[in-house]
Amino acid sequence: MIFSGEFHPFRLPVPGLWLDIFQKVKAAGFTGVSFYTNWGLLEGNPGQVVTDGVWSLEEFFASAKEAGIYLIARPGPYINAETSAGGIPGWVLRIKAQIRSMSEEYLNTTQKYVSTLGKIIADAQITKGGPVILMQPENEYTTWPGVTDFPSDTNKEYMAYVERQFRDAGIVVPFMDNDNEISGYFAPGTGPGEVDLYGIDSYPMRYDCANPYVWPTYRFSHDWQSTHQKQSPRTPFAIAEFQGGSGEGWGGVNQDKCAILVNEEAERVVYKNNYAFHAAIFNIYMIYGGTNWGNLGYQGGDTSYDYGAAITEDRQVWREKYSELKLQANFLKVSPAYLTAKSTASINGSYGVPDSISVTPVKGTDTNTNFYVVRHGDFTSLESTLYKLTVPTIIGNVTIPQIHGSLRLNGRDSKIHVTDYDIGGVALTYSSAEIFTWVKGPASSRVLVLYGSEGETHEAAFPLGLSKPILIEGPDIIVEQHTSMWILHWDVNSSRRVVHIGDLQVHLVWRNEAYNLWVLELPAENPIGNFTSMAKDRVLVGGGYLMRSAKIVGTKLDLIGDINATTTIEVISAPTVIKSISFNGLAYPISKTNLGSSTITVKYTSPGIKIPNISELEWKYVDSLPEIHSGFNDTLYTSLTRIESNNPRNLSTPTSLYAMDYGYHTGSFIYRGHFIANGHEKSAWLNISGGNGYGHSIWLNQTFLGSWVGEASIQNNVHNVKFSKELEQGKPYVLTVLIDHMGYDEEAPGTDAIKFPRGILNFDLSGHGQDDITWKMTGNFGGERYADLTRGPLNEGSMYAERQGYHLPSPPDEQWDLANPVKDGVEKAGVGFFTTSFDLNIPTGWDVPMSFVFNTSNKSSVDEYNTNNNYRCQLFVNGYQFGKYVNNLGPQTSFPVPEGILNYAGKNYIGLTLWALDQNGAKIDGFNIVPNNFILSGYQRPKPAPIPEWQQRQNAY
Ligand code: GAL
Repeated sequence: MIFSGEFHPFRLPVPGLWLDIFQKVKAAGFTGVSFYTNWGLLEGNPGQVVTDGVWSLEEFFASAKEAGIYLIARPGPYINAETSAGGIPGWVLRIKAQIRSMSEEYLNTTQKYVSTLGKIIADAQITKGGPVILMQPENEYTTWPGVTDFPSDTNKEYMAYVERQFRDAGIVVPFMDNDNEISGYFAPGTGPGEVDLYGIDSYPMRYDCANPYVWPTYRFSHDWQSTHQKQSPRTPFAIAEFQGGSGEGWGGVNQDKCAILVNEEAERVVYKNNYAFHAAIFNIYMIYGGTNWGNLGYQGGDTSYDYGAAITEDRQVWREKYSELKLQANFLKVSPAYLTAKSTASINGSYGVPDSISVTPVKGTDTNTNFYVVRHGDFTSLESTLYKLTVPTIIGNVTIPQIHGSLRLNGRDSKIHVTDYDIGGVALTYSSAEIFTWVKGPASSRVLVLYGSEGETHEAAFPLGLSKPILIEGPDIIVEQHTSMWILHWDVNSSRRVVHIGDLQVHLVWRNEAYNLWVLELPAENPIGNFTSMAKDRVLVGGGYLMRSAKIVGTKLDLIGDINATTTIEVISAPTVIKSISFNGLAYPISKTNLGSSTITVKYTSPGIKIPNISELEWKYVDSLPEIHSGFNDTLYTSLTRIESNNPRNLSTPTSLYAMDYGYHTGSFIYRGHFIANGHEKSAWLNISGGNGYGHSIWLNQTFLGSWVGEASIQNNVHNVKFSKELEQGKPYVLTVLIDHMGYDEEAPGTDAIKFPRGILNFDLSGHGQDDITWKMTGNFGGERYADLTRGPLNEGSMYAERQGYHLPSPPDEQWDLANPVKDGVEKAGVGFFTTSFDLNIPTGWDVPMSFVFNTSNKSSVDEYNTNNNYRCQLFVNGYQFGKYVNNLGPQTSFPVPEGILNYAGKNYIGLTLWALDQNGAKIDGFNIVPNNFILSGYQRPKPAPIPEWQQRQNAY
């Protein structure tokens, strides 16, 4: 089984932290990770594909291999993924041809990227000793714009073309697709474009994080198995993406709410429903979301791409949904019978359960093992329902529980009961309690872990041929001999019970205790190494915030892991006798328990790390919108003279004012409209596009005319401004317009959404024809020939400080004024740039995730945002833009910045742009850096990302 989670290296631009994520995924029992690469970030400048520094995948592949994680590569070229233009570079958007079509013009744009990335991925395939085992060409190509009879011959030809491109680049591993229409498109046998492994995508919990307890019902599946049998009978049922959380955007709610929408209960119900359909390739999107740093996101998302995923944006694993995944992934990993079993239809009221419960049998084909997936027929039900389950076993039919009482299904829960299950050569006749794992110990000993929710009654039975069960730890349970089996019967509570049945040790625990257990695979000979294999030896360990890896040398067990409190670590089972234990390289004295397991206690004392209060530091200031002062010289601005545009939106102006037509695609724009007054000017209107939640401000010469402060779902709008004074006839005037860019939209079926332009769409100046105004503009310095290859093509916008590179470390600030963004702010509508620096000195061995927090006065909901205090900030940390904050929209106020972007052993440079959209200026309502946890960690301290410093930029204006 491939049990994998999605993680995008480009959303954590510190290669040295990728191993940490892989280890956390592996520790949850996963075997794989699926990842996109982002064309738009790698080829911002046409023809120049950048694959070094934070963009290099070398360490990604090496770390996956080290952690023992197989990879599914998804290089696009289109990826969606809530990225700006779904990963299509800006320069590609301005071609005439339709994106993702067979047009040669479009196909040609992809060559360089596909051949470069194709080769990089090809070199990392398993056939060459690397971790890559599968590849997905394109992404959800099912929803290609404007086609009702999908897939047309051209669509098929296109898909086949993309596949050929990747094969030509050396890809030999199987191709998989992700059909979000679940229509069998491109399944094997469907002709041109067919893939080797047909896969589907599904997001049944949908995206309404604001109402996270409302479970939508219209996308829940009741029959994927039969659908799959029709669509792709010869390939395993593959789910290329299944909902692991959800994103959020401007003016919405924080993504913690998305973690509630897709929480541990949803995982139990909807994921187990997938196992009921016998999913054999299962990829959870996302397992770690990361950050939309440097403007890489699309218009619908803010800086956070936490996604409410099992691993938080700041790499922590405290969410219960992480632990629940660990239970599921580990169970499937030790249940090879599942892989050859066959799923049949689910029926309400079958197997003796009440009608409100649905049972889906997944029956062994070459084994006797059967799995019964039980949930409420109405899967959203909050009822707690008692039931008995009547099922066949090789010993005969049984009604569970046999001894007395009933099983119980809580609301929003689902269980997998098993019969005739193999514990490495020992038979389990049935168990109503769920299996976490089983492991082999020395000689013929085995440990089996069964769990249930507190208060539930459970039974497990074993053949009489085994010795009589003896309770050796914990409160009483009932042990009875029935016809030809031993039955254990117990009510789950928080005390562990341990039962010996000959060489088999059975642990009966409550779910929360199971959450504390870790199953660590021991390294094997190459080529398996750290990758998962059933044949591998495993160590079962209890305790600890996180256990990453284990190794046995002679009789010594070396554990690597993390703790956040004083922790007793219990080695419950190892394949050989263990006489000494080390944790993160230090030896600890062992105590033996009555069970024969070994424990060590690792002390945790708070490290007393000092983090500076950054709003109290000395800050330097430079005006960052000199455009609104008299005498500003915009000679080096781009003249907007193109009278034609390839854009599907027809021009409404004499020359194109679409920023994309001039190579500007990110951050923000400044437009300058020059005209000679004739005295008839009373007002002007502009139709401005910046993407959802965008804002703009308009000046006439030095006079502020007004701002659009933004609304969550408005991506462009018309703004009327009035001139309060008559203009002087014959005098030159300039309209200056600053526009925020929230990212391009993604591809949407039947639309050209992805090409929807940013910038000025249309305008009118009273008393003038449109021709009377000549426009100039700027975006990021250099446009597509962007200046900072290290931090990528999207990291900078149009503001003066950005154009000059002052957001980079060591700006030339000797002559700048002293001013503090919180205490002083900016005095009127405009933009100020503030910079400071400070040292961090985090002792090694401590993982201290940190966030920058705006609005420390703790306004938590959108209603409470001060809508009279309209300002926007960009946060630069050592030059990387790691936060776009909109005070009047939110929701995001806390911006995690990873170690490696932050220098944990030296100096850090912070840059802040403060754009006041109100006449009276703005002050930042609190700003600080806070540690989110102090974890004594076995992670490897990452090498910092490359942090080139400020250098004078030639011709910067
Ligand atoms: C899928 C898509 C992903 C991502 C996801 C929603 O349809 O393939 O790239 O956008 O939706 O988070």
